[in-house]
Amino acid sequence: MKKLVSLLLAAAWMLCLAACGQTGGGESSAPPAPETGEGASEPQEAASETPPEEQPPTTAETADSKTLVAYFTWAENAAYLAGDEAVDALASPSVVVPGNVQQLAGWVQEETGGDLFSIRVTDPYPSDWDACLERANEERGAGIRPELQETVEDLDQYDTVFLGYPNWWYGAPMALLSFLEQNDLSGKDVYLFCSHGTGGLAGSVEQIAEAAPEAVISDNIFDCYEEEAPSSQQAIQAWVENLGFSRAEPFQESEGTSMAQIAITWGENQVLCELNGSPAAHSLLIQLPLTIEVEDYSTNEKIFYPFTPLDTADSPLAQGGAGTLAYYEPWGDVVFFYGDYNENPGLFELGQVVSGEDLIPRMSGTITIEPVE
Ligand SMILES: Cc1cc2nc3c(=O)[nH]c(=O)nc-3n(C[C@H](O)[C@H](O)[C@H](O)COP(=O)(O)O)c2cc1C
Repeated sequence: MKKLVSLLLAAAWMLCLAACGQTGGGESSAPPAPETGEGASEPQEAASETPPEEQPPTTAETADSKTLVAYFTWAENAAYLAGDEAVDALASPSVVVPGNVQQLAGWVQEETGGDLFSIRVTDPYPSDWDACLERANEERGAGIRPELQETVEDLDQYDTVFLGYPNWWYGAPMALLSFLEQNDLSGKDVYLFCSHGTGGLAGSVEQIAEAAPEAVISDNIFDCYEEEAPSSQQAIQAWVENLGFSRAEPFQESEGTSMAQIAITWGENQVLCELNGSPAAHSLLIQLPLTIEVEDYSTNEKIFYPFTPLDTADSPLAQGGAGTLAYYEPWGDVVFFYGDYNENPGLFELGQVVSGEDLIPRMSGTITIEPVE
C-alpha cells in the first residue's frame, strides 16, 4: 500500500513538473523523493563530502572568531506541525518534525558552539506535501523572495557562517535567497550543508554564490540523502571537526609525547590500542568518539570505514604482525590485524593493541571507539 502511495506521489511529481513547465533548468538532477522517502530511487550518496581544495583553518585560528549556524527547514516553516489535527486529517504526506536540516544544524551548533539561527518566513508554507511543492514551485518560477520574520542580530560579530538548507525544486529554497540578500555575508567564511532527495545539491551552490557574491564559500560541502539525515550526527560532526571548527579538543596530548590510548568496546568486550602519534593516528583520534559498524575482511582483518579519510603524510608504513592497527589508504578503511599480513605501500601503521588481542577475531557488529582519559 505504501509503495502504491509512493508511486502515485512520484507520478504526481512528474505531472506537476509537466504542468508547471519545470524542467530543472537544464540540471541533471533527478526529481526529489517524497518526504516519506518511500519509492525514492537509490540515494546518489549517503553522506558525501566534496574533498577540500583549500587548507582548513586550525582550531587555534578560529578560537577568537564567532560562528553562526543559520538554516532553513520546512518543519519550522510549516503552517501546521505534524501531530496537529489539521495535519492528521490530510491525505498526502506532511511535514515531519524535527526537520532534517534542523537536526543537522543542531549537531553543527553542538560541535562548533556557534549561535543558531532558524530562517523563518512570515507566511508559513503548507504542511501538506503537494501544496508545499506547488507554492515552492510558484515562488521559484516567479523569482519571489519570501518575507522573513527577522534578520540576524549584529551580523558583524560572525566571521564564519555554517549555512544549512534542503534542496527545493532543484536548488536552494527561495527563503534562503531572501536570507542571503538581507544578511550581508561578504568576506565571511561560509560552509554549506544540505539534505536532499535524489536530486543531490543540484543548482543550489551556484544560486547561493550568486546571492552572496562576496562571501567566501568553501568547496567542502556536507550533503546527505534525506533518509540518512537523522543518523548523520557523527558524519556531520566529523566534517566540522575536520574543518577545524570543533570547540573542544577531543584529546589531550601529554607533555613531550603524542601517544594516546584508545578503547574499542562491543558488548562486554574491550580492546585497548596504543596509537603511535603519527599524523594518520592523530586524524583518527580527532574523530573520536565513534560508534561504527565493523566488518570481516579476509581471514585476518576486522575493518571499519571512518567518516573522514585519515591524513597519512609523514606516517610510518605498517611492518606486519598480528595486533597491528593500520589504515589502508586506497580503500579508506581502518584495520585490526589478528593474523600476519604483508607490508604494502598503501598500508600505514596507526598503533598496536596492548590488551584484548585475543578478542579481535570475535569483534563484530557495532563497536565504540573512544580515547582513554
Ligand atoms: C517543496 C519541496 C521541494 C523539494 N524539492 C527537491 C528537489 O528538487 N530535489 C531533491 O532532491 N529533494 C527535494 N526535496 C526534498 C528535500 O530536499 C529533503 O526531503 C530534505 O531532506 C528536507 O529537509 P527538511 O526536513 O529540513 O526540510 C523537496 C522537498 C520539498 C518540501
